[in-house]
Amino acid sequence: MIKHIIELELKKQFHKELESSLLYLSMASWVEHKYGEFDGISHFLYDHSQEENIHMIKLIKYINKRGGYADLNNINIHNNMNITSQCNSIQDVFKNLFKHEQIISQKVSDLVKLSLKEHDYFTYHFLQWYIQEQIEEENLIKKYLDKIKLIEEDKSGWYLFDKDITHNHNSK
Ligand code: FEO
Repeated sequence: MIKHIIELELKKQFHKELESSLLYLSMASWVEHKYGEFDGISHFLYDHSQEENIHMIKLIKYINKRGGYADLNNINIHNNMNITSQCNSIQDVFKNLFKHEQIISQKVSDLVKLSLKEHDYFTYHFLQWYIQEQIEEENLIKKYLDKIKLIEEDKSGWYLFDKDITHNHNSK
C-alpha cells in the first residue's frame, strides 16, 4: 500500500505531466498557426504532447496499482498555457520548453529523494524510468535549441532544421 505522502506527491507529478502535454500542444498549435511552412516542427510538438500524456497515464496507473487513487479532481495546472503570448519566435518556443523540462527533472529528482526518505523502494524503482526519460528529453530539446541558435535568420537553415526534426522524429 502506497504511503499517503508518496501518493500526494505522485499526484502532483501527474498534474505536471498533464501540464507538459498541454504546453507542448499549445506550442504545436502556435507554431502551426505562425509558421505553417514548418510542419516538421509542429508535428514534433504535437507528437511530443502525446508522449507527455503517456507519462501522465503511467503515473495514474502506478498510483492505482499500489492501492492509491489517482483522482482527477482539483487538477492543479500552473497557468503557463499563456506562454505562447511570450513567444516571438521558434527559438522562444524551444527556450521555454527547455526551461520547462529542467523544472520537470527537478520534480522527478525531488520524488526520488522522497521515495528514499520514506523507504519506498517500489516507487524508487518505478521512478528510474522517469529519470532516464528526463535525461533524454532535456538532451533532445537542448540539441534543437543549440541548432536553432546557429541558424538565427538564415532561411535555408530553417528549411534544413525542419527536415532534420522530421527525420529524427520519424526514425525514433
Ligand atoms: Fe514528461 Fe517532458 O517530461
